[in-house]
Amino acid sequence: MPDDRGIPGAVAALLERVSAETQPQALLDTTSLRGRTAIVTGGSSGIGRAVALELARCGCNVAFCFLDSGAKARLDAHETARLLRQTETKVYFRSCDVRDSRDVRVFVGEVLREMGGLHILINNAGVSRDRPLWKMEDHEWESVVRTNLDGAFYFTRAVAPTMRAQEWGKIVNVASVHGTRTVFGISNYSASKAGLIGFTKSSALELGPMNINVNAVAPGYIRTTRLTEGVSPDVLDQAREHSALGRLGDPQDVAGVVLFLCSEAARHMTGAVIPVDGGYLL
Ligand code: NAI
Repeated sequence: MPDDRGIPGAVAALLERVSAETQPQALLDTTSLRGRTAIVTGGSSGIGRAVALELARCGCNVAFCFLDSGAKARLDAHETARLLRQTETKVYFRSCDVRDSRDVRVFVGEVLREMGGLHILINNAGVSRDRPLWKMEDHEWESVVRTNLDGAFYFTRAVAPTMRAQEWGKIVNVASVHGTRTVFGISNYSASKAGLIGFTKSSALELGPMNINVNAVAPGYIRTTRLTEGVSPDVLDQAREHSALGRLGDPQDVAGVVLFLCSEAARHMTGAVIPVDGGYLL
């Protein structure tokens, strides 16, 4: 029966429902994440913080670690925890150096005890120490490879028994476009991220039979403090020019893709490396 505007009843009812929804609607069904527990390494700032908040908004309890490199690092960590608590999910955090395999095991044990479970791991902690390879010091090579690659191995190994036993797990490694294409002066970083991509594929193969998905994201230039304070404006301009979308990314751009990989929408994806680079690699 048409109403007084001449619109049929069913259409009028639909219009009413649609116009009543004033809040943005979620594009991705993340109900499977509610009540899960996630570890985000390096969750105190930048991409890690954005990922931790996105998971918490979907109802995940979040544990994160960070490197205690001084007062600023501790402030960042407390700020992330404060933001996470606003989502009314459980939060656990402390400094834990991902290069310390023994402390990584202890941290994972604490998360299991404090949060009562463990379902998702985001290997995000990472550093760079750029220098031409003929000038690179041993410690510059080692700190980058040990943080970006060894750290992901230590955490993956530590969570594997729990995820294997429950036959459910999602692991996402934060790699980089510089794991597949490189620029001058980042041999340590490129080697670590290329290694992380290889490790992602090996872990996917070994853990897949126990229903554990292991994938990687490969961000391009993402606007974090590390980038805006540590990289020259010229390099950032070049990065913008290089990318098809003509802009840098935001931490939120990476967090959205990580969330997708943790959701059941991606349940048949494993061993994949997803660029989040605005078309930088094209
Ligand atoms: P960020 O400097 O804001 O955050 C790094 C995080 O890692 C911090 O929480 C820090 O405490 C933690 N961390 C560093 N060393 C650690 C250690 N030994 N043990 C425990 N935690 C440690 O950096 P951002 O930009 O958010 O980077 C996060 C990840 O994204 C890194 O793996 C980085 O390589 C990757 N990435 C970043 C891009 C960018 O343009 N910002 C581009 C591509 C990849």
